[in-house]
Amino acid sequence: MSLDDVLILNAVSKAYGGRASMIEKAFGRRPKGLQAVREVSFTIRKGEVMGLVGESGCGKSTIARMAAGLLAPTGGEIGRNAAMREQMIFQDPFSSLNPRWRVRDIVAEPIRTHRLRPKKAIDERVAELLRQVGLSPEDGAKFPQAFSGGQRQRISIARALAGEPDFLILDEPTSALDVSVQAQILDLLRGFQAELHLTSLFITHNLPVVRLMADRIGVVYLGELVELAPTETIFHRPRHPYTRLLIDAAPDLDATDRSLHPIPGDLPDPSDPPSGCVFRTRCPFANERCAAERPELRTVETGQVRCHYDLDLSQRAAA
Ligand SMILES: Nc1ncnc2c1ncn2[C@@H]1O[C@H](COP(=O)(O)OP(=O)(O)OP(=O)(O)O)[C@@H](O)[C@H]1O
Ligand SMILES: [Mg+2]
Repeated sequence: MSLDDVLILNAVSKAYGGRASMIEKAFGRRPKGLQAVREVSFTIRKGEVMGLVGESGCGKSTIARMAAGLLAPTGGEIGRNAAMREQMIFQDPFSSLNPRWRVRDIVAEPIRTHRLRPKKAIDERVAELLRQVGLSPEDGAKFPQAFSGGQRQRISIARALAGEPDFLILDEPTSALDVSVQAQILDLLRGFQAELHLTSLFITHNLPVVRLMADRIGVVYLGELVELAPTETIFHRPRHPYTRLLIDAAPDLDATDRSLHPIPGDLPDPSDPPSGCVFRTRCPFANERCAAERPELRTVETGQVRCHYDLDLSQRAAA
């Protein structure tokens, strides 16, 4: 791991063991497990915002929790830069804040845990953070229930910044919010990103959002990383058919249609994924080879792609 690497995932997998049903128990059968994440590899370098995008259930939160060290992988390795402090912002602003704590204690918690400030300076620091995220220091005396979803996400951001992170992991930080509130929170995050030179892993199902936020994008489908490339390259020269379909289906940033299943066809059952290429059941180009062989993640001119065919889909679309 070089000094500039913040996080390295090397063929990381996560299998959840299913719970046995009554019938399975009665017959002594093992429950169907679920491979939520399969051999995902990528490296995040200092100062960059790496985005991950994919449909609901594809394994994004599982990857986020493993990246944050909250969940152990069942396969592969995770390399972490010990000199970096990480903080995570969670998907659901309604369950991520302890309802029994006042906001000022929630925000102060990472400061206390990491002993970042002398005791007498904590109140002042909390007030400053609340102001920075657009709340008032008086809000510190209230409980989370007093706030809307957008305000709660501001509290989560203040709490994360209180930990003085070098590395921020954001799991769908705006997907529970209205479109107009989402724009405010994204602006706020972009401001901090630039000001504090934060390295981030930014996760979302929303393609326009990840385009706005990330320098590089990884596209995830059914637990697999199917494409990885710089942000504008992904949009102008997608190499994986799934990426192309996502781009064609993506609404504008301010659109009200925020469907989690933007492309035709159903997501296969993750406990019983297709043979060969996991995307083949929805792929317009799939053939027998795709059913028989699982493609490797290959390096191509634009980045990396997990597809048997090097389809330059920008040219195909233009033709
Ligand atoms: N604790 C768990 N036990 C068993 N299965 C789980 C568990 N957590 C997640 N899963 C399953 O693993 C798969 C990936 O879930 P995950 O929450 O990582 O997806 P996601 O991309 O974050 O989805 P969403 O967009 O809905 O947040 C899903 O099929 C989910 O049902
Ligand atoms: Mg999730």
